[in-house]
Amino acid sequence: MKEATITIPVIEAQYDELTETDRRLIDEARQATERSYAPYSRFHVGAAILLDNGETVTGANQENAAYPSGTCAERSACYYAHARYPEARFMAIAIAARGTDGLEVAEPISPCGACRQALLEYETLAGRNVRVILAGRDRIYILPSVRATLPLAFTEF
Ligand code: THU
Repeated sequence: MKEATITIPVIEAQYDELTETDRRLIDEARQATERSYAPYSRFHVGAAILLDNGETVTGANQENAAYPSGTCAERSACYYAHARYPEARFMAIAIAARGTDGLEVAEPISPCGACRQALLEYETLAGRNVRVILAGRDRIYILPSVRATLPLAFTEF
């Protein structure tokens, strides 16, 4: 028996330290929060996925009176991206959120477990790392892959 520690690589950055491509993707995710439908939680999440065909696809959380029927921003974006451009491979995803006060959250939010699992499958399809950019007002976290967000992931497919 032995003890092991799993670590995940993460870069902390400020907006003005990023490349124009990353900044643009964050801008798209921030704008996508405006298209969230969140009358129940009033928590507005936006996601933007950069594809290898040059297109950017966005999504936002869509809630429903039957609560479990709602969908997170990340899954709305990744399902739409693959439905719209099935041949394209994901390159990066940016995620942003606005809280109940209407302001962007100070600390970045991170995708829920179900979204990590869904995104992981598209990373596997892409055959290369899909960078994950988590934007907050105070800092931005960049992870090199979806896999990094999901240690001990289920990958039996
Ligand atoms: N939500 C997302 O869209 N993405 C996340 O990463 C976390 C949570 C949504 C689900 C729900 O509509 C609202 O935020 C509050 O949980």
